[in-house]
Amino acid sequence: MKTLFIVANWKANKTQSEATEWLREFPIPNSQFPIPNKEVVICAPFMLLSYLKLYVLNHKFSFKIGAQDVSPFAEGAYTGEISAKQIKEFADYVIVGHSERRKYFLEDKNIINKKIEMSFKDNLIPILCISDIRQLRDSLSLLGSAKVIIAYEPLFAIGSRADTPENANAMADKIKKLTDGAPVLYGGGVTEKNVKNFTDMLFIDGVLVGEASLDPLSFSEIIKSSKLNE
Ligand code: PGA
Repeated sequence: MKTLFIVANWKANKTQSEATEWLREFPIPNSQFPIPNKEVVICAPFMLLSYLKLYVLNHKFSFKIGAQDVSPFAEGAYTGEISAKQIKEFADYVIVGHSERRKYFLEDKNIINKKIEMSFKDNLIPILCISDIRQLRDSLSLLGSAKVIIAYEPLFAIGSRADTPENANAMADKIKKLTDGAPVLYGGGVTEKNVKNFTDMLFIDGVLVGEASLDPLSFSEIIKSSKLNE
């Protein structure tokens, strides 16, 4: 049976006390976790990773934890960087190549590919964000049969109005063919109102949610409303 991924991307939001509030207000009781066939991942800022991991363990939530970035270098003298090995203590996933990193931090394909390599080396599952097929082709030779998730996020849709489910599904189909069937997420403008239209699509395996994941009630509605079309 396929797994449906519901991934929150908190970006540079939430202090530790705001994260605590989010967790307290999150309305799906932990007794309902794990939700069959759904993998819920919270990609949080680095400084919240250890806190979230402990919280989730202590409260028996089976959220998975993800980081939003990883150093292109292994551990060592790289001031300000966080290596895959450091992240792996707390997280299973890492977002790589988000369009905001490409735009504001000038990440190119070489940097992104090093980040993918570092993730693989320390057994983190990269969630590689692409806004077009060229960006996928730039990394394709690295992917092989390794565990990877591809998130299709068209630039116009991020923080704005979502793409059509049909377009997203056609892209997901292309991505699957090129990657030998990697799970494909759709991201950009996903809300509790439109999530089902995307997860209903044959080639879409989940969603990457920014803005709407910041509110625990909206995010829980997204989890509840999402449904895989098998
Ligand atoms: P959004 O962001 O849901 O706020 O559009 C998605 C993303 O950037 O991953």
